[in-house]
Amino acid sequence: MSIIYNEASKMFSLYAKDTLYALAVVDEGYLSHVYYGKTVPDSDLTYLLRLDEGPFYPSKNRRETASFMDCQPFEYPCYGTGDYRESCLMVMDKDGMSACDLRYVSHKIYKGKPKLEGMPATFAEENEAETLEIIMLDKHLGMEAVLVYTVFEELNAITRSVRITNKGSDPFKLTRVLSMCVDFETDKFDMITLNGSWARERALERARLHCGKQSVDSARGESSHQSNPFFALVSPNADEDMGEAYGFNFVYSGNFFAQAEVTQFERTRAVMGINPLDFAWLLESGETFTAPEVVMVYSANGIGDMSRTFHDLYRKHLIRGEYKNKRRPVLINNWEATYFDFDTDKLISIAKEASKLGIEMLVMDDGWFGHRSSDDSSLGDWFVNENKLKGGLKYLVDEVNKLGMKFGIWFEPEMISPDSDLYRAHPDWAIQIPGRVSTQSRAQFVLDYSRKEVRDHVYGMLRKILDNANIEYIKWDMNRQLTEVGSTVLPKDRQRELWHRYVLGVYDLQERLTTDYPHILLENCSGGGARFDPAMLYYSPQIWTSDDTDAVERLKIQYGTSICYPPSAMGAHVSDCPNHTVGRVTPFETRGYVAMVGTFGYELDVTRIPQEDRDAIPGQIEMFNKFNPLVRNGDQYRIGNVNEDNTWDAWMFVAKDKSEAMLTVVQVLARPNYKSRNVKLKGLDPKAMYRNEETGVVLSGEALMNCGMNFQFWGDFRGKIVHLVRV
Ligand code: DGJ
Repeated sequence: MSIIYNEASKMFSLYAKDTLYALAVVDEGYLSHVYYGKTVPDSDLTYLLRLDEGPFYPSKNRRETASFMDCQPFEYPCYGTGDYRESCLMVMDKDGMSACDLRYVSHKIYKGKPKLEGMPATFAEENEAETLEIIMLDKHLGMEAVLVYTVFEELNAITRSVRITNKGSDPFKLTRVLSMCVDFETDKFDMITLNGSWARERALERARLHCGKQSVDSARGESSHQSNPFFALVSPNADEDMGEAYGFNFVYSGNFFAQAEVTQFERTRAVMGINPLDFAWLLESGETFTAPEVVMVYSANGIGDMSRTFHDLYRKHLIRGEYKNKRRPVLINNWEATYFDFDTDKLISIAKEASKLGIEMLVMDDGWFGHRSSDDSSLGDWFVNENKLKGGLKYLVDEVNKLGMKFGIWFEPEMISPDSDLYRAHPDWAIQIPGRVSTQSRAQFVLDYSRKEVRDHVYGMLRKILDNANIEYIKWDMNRQLTEVGSTVLPKDRQRELWHRYVLGVYDLQERLTTDYPHILLENCSGGGARFDPAMLYYSPQIWTSDDTDAVERLKIQYGTSICYPPSAMGAHVSDCPNHTVGRVTPFETRGYVAMVGTFGYELDVTRIPQEDRDAIPGQIEMFNKFNPLVRNGDQYRIGNVNEDNTWDAWMFVAKDKSEAMLTVVQVLARPNYKSRNVKLKGLDPKAMYRNEETGVVLSGEALMNCGMNFQFWGDFRGKIVHLVRV
């Protein structure tokens, strides 16, 4: 059994593989956090709560409950009753009061994992997971909170979410509803976050926790380029292979808040959820609000092991659809090849050349609709620009299909250009504050996706395109963050709900799209990598990782992204040089090595690249085909870290049964007067013998991991892939 309730101690033990998460109902119905870490056999750990220590026991010390409130480790802390640390729940009731106070009422334990209404979440079969629901009540407000915990039997993963219902007769507003809180016994942690900017997303940062609050967030309406909805707390000695690591990832694509707070008692409170900034949600009597899911992963064996758990969880229990376990077609995207300057003939010429080289799909990017010839117009006018696509879309798609290639298309369905027929007909459909001049960003506004008629209309246009031609892939882009967040239809006491209602609208449309067109491969994208979050993985098995396609920058971006997301979900393309973002020139071969551990494709004008590069493409595709099963199903081990030492990087993918492995080594900058670099491998079976498929040399796993392999490169940005097979 994965979840056990001990009647005597009132402690719940949640076992997920080698993890134990324990909580207990204590004095006066408070719900306290007891322990999170490596499994221990004992069924009563409530001594950790120190309930017998002096002034803190509420029922025995009526005159001093404040001390208890401010130091007790709580499962779901409420605002305004003496716990001055970060709280998870805060209200505005009919009298303008903000305090709340939840106490235990009952619980239930059941097999499997429930769905989150209208929201993405991890899923599991009945025999793969067990769920605990704890029902709490604020008697004063008549507010019920159901804390939902699911443990995965075979993974060190636990998920959490919360449902709040107004069981009283008066309405109240929720002004903050976080999804997760863990009160750790210690403050001896480093915090890892994934931060950056456009074209340099998810750069790993690591810093020692110190007294006070350390947070990352997004208030941009999407998960953002700047910070990812992820953080980890790791023991100060933790590295890839040893030490404790707790990872938290929010299954959400809107405003988030994630924080670690070191308290006066040298403990750490970790919280995560929807960003409370500018958030409010009105709950009328009988209404329920569901907070999105947080995934918590524990590792006693370092950061690498934590990442591999996230990868396994997401590959098996989050990503859905026909492509879940399938190799993705090798695509060529025309964005960096042509930008807006293309027509049918140009696209067909690219497809002709690409098909000869073994590329399997042409993706037509931005610029095919309305009268769009720059990013100044036409978003929302999802009909074909016949001046560019002479003969129409079906003609183009058929021609591409005749070449034996699939066809994919770009949309930005959440947007509306002021210069569009859609805007001229429905200016009120844009998110705006009536009477206030809207901030300009890429000359476009965001559609009010809280409105069903808006979503229906956009979807109707998309359907016409999709039903008109044989489209087998969609790139769903999102290039503008939200400002002046107001809706022309929501009542004033629900305006602050728009941030979240907008995200729910996006989910609604992606759910409809993936249900109605299950054969279409969906790739999410947001100005590059601003929506690389687990919620998007629920709808699309791959996400465009970054607009930066430079091989060296990608080393850093893909390294950081792999901290919690599987490489097989990372959109990665070989592009032309000098690179369009950084101007760097790298060997075509190395660009291939880096893109190969993602979804793999090309983003260049294949009719114009050097012949030598063109000639290399069939070989690259062959290599991708050979290694892709390892990338999709194997375990990733990070070896080098280009963030720490920008002279080299290395990583491995090892088959689950350890029968084969691929190692990629990239020398970033050459070092003069330096012997060959020794790289120690990871994840192999120490007792097995492995043959290097290129050289024929056979070495034991033990030797490869302890003594390493030597690599000598001549020049910057050089790389190599080694294939090892167990003999
Ligand atoms: C941003 C995306 O990340 C790019 O790949 C490209 O699709 C452009 N948008 C098109 O506007």
